[in-house]
Amino acid sequence: MSKPARIGVIGCGNISPQYFKGAKLYPQIRMEACSDLSADVAKSRAEEFDVPRVLTVDELIADPEIDIVLNLTTPQFHAAINTRILEAGKHAYCEKPFATSREEGRAVLELAKRKGLRVGCAPDTFLSSPMQTARKLVDDGVIGRVFGGTAVFACPGHERWHPNPEFYYKQGGGPVLDMAPYYFTVLANLLGPAVSVVSSGKRVFTERKIATGPNEGQRVEVETATHNNSLVEYASGACVNAMFSFDVQGAHDLPLLTLYGSEGNLSLPDPNCFDGVVRVCRPGGEWEEMSLLHNYEGARALGLAELADAIRNEREHRANGELAFHVFDTMLACEEAAASGSRVSIDSSFERLPALLGSDSKSPKF
Ligand SMILES: NC(=O)c1ccc[n+]([C@@H]2O[C@H](COP(=O)([O-])OP(=O)(O)OC[C@H]3O[C@@H](n4cnc5c(N)ncnc54)[C@H](O)[C@@H]3O)[C@@H](O)[C@H]2O)c1
Repeated sequence: MSKPARIGVIGCGNISPQYFKGAKLYPQIRMEACSDLSADVAKSRAEEFDVPRVLTVDELIADPEIDIVLNLTTPQFHAAINTRILEAGKHAYCEKPFATSREEGRAVLELAKRKGLRVGCAPDTFLSSPMQTARKLVDDGVIGRVFGGTAVFACPGHERWHPNPEFYYKQGGGPVLDMAPYYFTVLANLLGPAVSVVSSGKRVFTERKIATGPNEGQRVEVETATHNNSLVEYASGACVNAMFSFDVQGAHDLPLLTLYGSEGNLSLPDPNCFDGVVRVCRPGGEWEEMSLLHNYEGARALGLAELADAIRNEREHRANGELAFHVFDTMLACEEAAASGSRVSIDSSFERLPALLGSDSKSPKF
């Protein structure tokens, strides 16, 4: 096997441990260096996860020993940092959401194209074994023609567990931009592009109280809608009924993600996770658990490993910028439709790349 791609990480906050741990599962990549606005934060992550070098952001972006830069900063910096990475001649892979405006997102895609570089973006949970198994079931027509679906994310707000939750309530935050990426990316992989949205949105509380960490008790002013209901129409003819909320106070018992087809229903696990059960219910029958197609372990960094493999083998990578931009465009359409009360069309599209092949190996076969 050829050498792993060398990854440099910018942003060593809350989500970064999942990438540092996840990267160890995939031989296609190796964490080479990390950086953060706070050098102490970067140093402590490097010690915890055996990352060989701690650099400043400028040093990391310029470093000739780094092949791909992983951008784990907060949403308002995603596009600006992706731009700097690409300008420096490196491939960029970024956390979601892809940008905070369509203009920003498009500019990043155009720059990457101009430079002949790759842009990847989370989420990569759609590459998990359950979600790729679901993709094969849909492609094989097991539930027939898909005409409907439901998608639900509902919680009382991330300030319950996140020590720095301000960004979830500022521009670029809110439950749609934060959580719909998981749902809309899985749905895009299963159904293809979305074409229009009607929505209703609310801001239920005007401020939130941080419940954990050094800022516990501090109040955060809410600038985004925090409860959204959307009907998303797909070019395939399917219509998905989606709810994304930071305002639901108690536990709910709604299924997270379900598709309805002319020959049966498909139940999917939590699209924010890499594991879980895929079930099919045929007309008149009971829910049946489907056997999974793959044995590899899923973890954040799977999309990064797939990107590294795609670069090496000169093929398209799956968690790519066009898909991420389309998902982002769909999410903005949900917010705009809610604000205007009108149906909003979605102009962007993406190429639906083939499902991952089945593999007995613990290591993914791309
Ligand atoms: N926390 C989670 O569970 C989670 C899950 C999935 C995705 N995400 C996504 O990951 C991203 C980061 O979230 P987080 O929870 O880790 O946030 P965080 O605030 O905990 O960490 C962000 C880190 O990035 C650093 N940073 C910010 N701007 C920077 C810049 N310009 N240059 C260098 N470093 C910079 C900060 O100092 C901080 O250490 C967000 O886009 C979020 O949506 C988070």
